[in-house]
Amino acid sequence: MQRIPMARPTWDDDMRQAALATLDSGQWVKGPEGRAFGEAFATYCGAMGGTPCQSGSVALWGALNLLDIGPGDEVLVPSLTYIATATCVDLVGATPVFVDVEADHWCVDMDALEAARTPNTKAVIAVHLFGQMSDDRLVAWCEANGIAYIEDAAQAHGAVAADGTKAGAVGDVACFSFFPSKNLAVGGEGGMMMTRREDLVARMDALVNHGRDARLEAQKLGSNFRMSEVMASIGRVQLSRLDSWLERRRTIAARYTAAFASTPGLTTPSVRPGTLHAWHQYCVLVDEPEGFRQHLDEQGVDSRVYYATPCHRQGVYSEHPQHHQPFPVTDDIAHRLVAVPVFHAMTDEEVGRVIQAVTSYVCA
Ligand SMILES: Cc1ncc(COP(=O)(O)O)c(C=O)c1O
Repeated sequence: MQRIPMARPTWDDDMRQAALATLDSGQWVKGPEGRAFGEAFATYCGAMGGTPCQSGSVALWGALNLLDIGPGDEVLVPSLTYIATATCVDLVGATPVFVDVEADHWCVDMDALEAARTPNTKAVIAVHLFGQMSDDRLVAWCEANGIAYIEDAAQAHGAVAADGTKAGAVGDVACFSFFPSKNLAVGGEGGMMMTRREDLVARMDALVNHGRDARLEAQKLGSNFRMSEVMASIGRVQLSRLDSWLERRRTIAARYTAAFASTPGLTTPSVRPGTLHAWHQYCVLVDEPEGFRQHLDEQGVDSRVYYATPCHRQGVYSEHPQHHQPFPVTDDIAHRLVAVPVFHAMTDEEVGRVIQAVTSYVCA
């Protein structure tokens, strides 16, 4: 029996055609595909503009750059996230200040943000973790305190906030990743910066182009962080599929939640009321993660822990003043959040096998 992986990127004739046509055109960089992809995804999200770039990590670095964040500035980040959310802050010379997450929705916690805020706080990077929208009250909180709101939407393509705004159009700048396992991919590495602020649109494009203006003179520091045209052309086709793929992820997640509800030893994820989850990952909170994962493994089902070591405890932050700081929720859940496969190309038979594997687990 074939193992069920955590992700299976899909690739079809339309994407093949788009890639070949772009290669045939001879315009491999700086062409119409990148522009059209940026515009189409920004329109999809309801933002003013989108700039494709080389990865989600580059997009995060770019967001801080656009907002003029640098030495002496503090940026609030959850510790329960992928390391890029935090290290982008160090890369611009600012200081990441780690905060705890919510016990129920696992995104950055509003009370923890307020407690960590200082006169030096310039931005918060809120991660829409696993595809769950961050707290809606963050927009007003950031505005009231003169703090920029950066969305780490690397896992949240197509997630929708309670007021109907899509991920990407909520904060000042949003950052997406198109890593192959993400909800939307480009056939390699890729990312996008997005903004709802008109004043940042042109600067965003310049940033990935050595800060050059229309006369090709560098006005601001930048570099070459452009996405290639082939990838942008694939991304455009993937975008046209995104809503149906999200529908499939949501159907699978609903089946899991119904099926797992009474399985002893695990808690199913809860969705923030009024919002639409993008289900990049379906994580269950497990009492005995090792036994649970071993059981899934024996049934031919892959799983992952997100994130076993919170950012502030990793070696890169061994000198950070918060390296040993306890975070009650993060410490309690980080090693117990186990993701099981959820992706649009899963067959019903595979979904059934995951359900069978999870529900046959007997907690030690
Ligand atoms: C929450 C989060 N932020 C940032 C990134 C970085 O994206 P990339 O791998 O495209 O650099 C990822 C990718 O896994 C992510 O999950």
